[in-house]
Amino acid sequence: MNEKKLVELTGKHTQIIIELGEYAEILHWGKKIEGELERCRSVIHRPVPQGRLDKDVAMTLMPELGRGLFSSPGLEGHRDGLDWAPVFVITDVVQSSAGHLLIKSEDKRAGLKLSTELMLDEYDVIKTRQTLKNIKAGKYYLNRLANTLPLPARTKELMTYYGRWVKEFQTQRQPLLQGGYQQENRRGRTSHEHYPAFVAGTEDFSENHGEVWGFHFAWSGNHRMRADVKVDGRRYMQAEVIYFPGEIALEQGESHTTPWLYASYNASGLNGMSQQFHSHVRNSVISPDYKEKVRPVHLNTWEGIYFDHDPEYIMSMASQAAELGVERFIIDDGWFKGRDDDYAALGDWFLDERKYPNGLEPVIEHVNNLGMEFGLWFEPEMINKDSDMYREHPEWLLAVDGYNQPEGRHQYVVDLMNDDAFNFLYERLDYFLGKYNIGYIKWDMNREIVQPGHEGRASGVKQTERFYDLVDLLRTKYPQVSIESCASGGGRVDFEVLKRTDRFWPSDNNDALERQTIQRGMSYFFPPEVMGSHIGSSECHCTRRKHSIEFRGLMAMFGHMGIELDPVKEDETEKQNFAHYVELHKSIRSLLHSGVNWRLTTDDPAHQAQAVVAKDQSEAVVLIAQLAMPTNMTSGNLRIPGLDEKAQYRVSVLDKPAFFERIANTQPPWMEADNVLSGSWCGEIGLSIPVLDPETALLLKLERVD
Ligand code: GLA
Repeated sequence: MNEKKLVELTGKHTQIIIELGEYAEILHWGKKIEGELERCRSVIHRPVPQGRLDKDVAMTLMPELGRGLFSSPGLEGHRDGLDWAPVFVITDVVQSSAGHLLIKSEDKRAGLKLSTELMLDEYDVIKTRQTLKNIKAGKYYLNRLANTLPLPARTKELMTYYGRWVKEFQTQRQPLLQGGYQQENRRGRTSHEHYPAFVAGTEDFSENHGEVWGFHFAWSGNHRMRADVKVDGRRYMQAEVIYFPGEIALEQGESHTTPWLYASYNASGLNGMSQQFHSHVRNSVISPDYKEKVRPVHLNTWEGIYFDHDPEYIMSMASQAAELGVERFIIDDGWFKGRDDDYAALGDWFLDERKYPNGLEPVIEHVNNLGMEFGLWFEPEMINKDSDMYREHPEWLLAVDGYNQPEGRHQYVVDLMNDDAFNFLYERLDYFLGKYNIGYIKWDMNREIVQPGHEGRASGVKQTERFYDLVDLLRTKYPQVSIESCASGGGRVDFEVLKRTDRFWPSDNNDALERQTIQRGMSYFFPPEVMGSHIGSSECHCTRRKHSIEFRGLMAMFGHMGIELDPVKEDETEKQNFAHYVELHKSIRSLLHSGVNWRLTTDDPAHQAQAVVAKDQSEAVVLIAQLAMPTNMTSGNLRIPGLDEKAQYRVSVLDKPAFFERIANTQPPWMEADNVLSGSWCGEIGLSIPVLDPETALLLKLERVD
């Protein structure tokens, strides 16, 4: 293609203008603009300063050293030391629908073909990925294949993620300066530490202001993401899988495709960006089979009984759970042969007949007779050395012979590239799903991957792909079974895993206070219905902090709700309280799981507030959490955006803390009155925030009055 031409992709509010000649360059990715693009494009041609290459070098979708683009290359590889600096030339461009563009290019000398795909959907989310094909004799060793997108020079700040076990999805702000930002995840799963996402934006971007470009790399293994500033001021971002040496070697005719990089631009801040990602996730990531289903309230046995399983007792837990309004009862870890603690038995996926002498049937029947669905925990990818599986098949360990890798929670990883191991796991899961009436599985993965070796070779990518294959096979055979992705809490949370599961366990931390921040961090990319959110016991098992039932109940409200404790041990009053919060959740669940999410900005950082507004703006629920001691005696007004400005809304209090009236001489009078306010009043002026003790919360409802 010698003549340069322009193509455009348009979403609802976003436009991408791409110039295509020998290579592809994004000229604009932002707000939709009107006008004759062809005539205008020459005005953005750049000057060529002295002291550098004599011609302008474009920031392309595939940065190449051979063109003189000194950014991080989009491809690094070689054929026994040759063909290491390819330069691709576009051979064909196919725009199959308004939103889908396929750019084909080739380097004949290096014997490589490249396909770059870009899709922009109606929710303004872009997906892009690269496919490399070796078309020449001789193995092509691929060291890197990255997805690259440009950032405009006005991107000045980043919001990035950090975290750890029981403290996932923590966000931080940093300037985007020369030297850039880079995160590398080498933990073998998506990881708690390096959630694969960040946001770039204009200076001081915030929830409702500033231009933002958000990125999510949909891959459940090792990755590298960067945002960089070139010395000439231009900026770009990259996302790629980290390949171990030699693991991607393409024979002639073979190709390799990267995971999808998802990205979304919004002109008015993070809330708008999140709403776009949420719409995309709801419509294109979550399985259509699950999308319309009501998400049943859970009771999970883990923090109630851990490994101590007695079917009679478990049935009494189920009876109590049903009385609380629970709709799905899940037996967590501890049910399979020899699993009395976390030192042994992973791999032995046979019912423990010592614990369940009459089989699982009586328990499942009991659960079903109470009107609840039954769920079961598995950790298929893992193996303890103290297991029959390991004793019979030590070769099923994912490892490099001759080395001793450290244990993690006393366990190792199964080599899913070993067909016998893979088939055994499939057969075992198939057995349980086929034999019993199981509606849900919690799919756990509690160990990082240290040395993913298969037959001596590095195989991190293949291991992740085989995990996807295993879930896909089961999913195809049992489409009605819902799956939760858990990895010691939120260690495997990404769009690619969500395509084949239905919800996440965001954290092992059930501390209502900590959960606020964890779920808020997760909410930038995920809607509430995929966040498992459980009421834990009054003393949190991992922080030893104590919280009232009111606070725990409300903090678990804005997700896929559940209870994680032993209801038999709770007293009557507490049980009534659980039933109250379960009922409250059910009464607002359809709104919470389909509405538009807003993280509210408050005047006092001691507050965190969020709202979910119905798509037709007929109603909304608002949660105000008092995280710490209020900074001042009074805390200003709470503004609620997203309502119909011209409509009138009746405001009511759905739930408030115990002792609420006693902690102020007078709480704001609006709370006792019949208040009808306009949507614009709520958005611009708001409602006076009452006095709240630290670690308490308030739930409001707004209903449009006609
Ligand atoms: C992990 C999960 C927990 C629980 C235990 C069981 O830690 O995150 O929720 O399932 O495993 O061993």
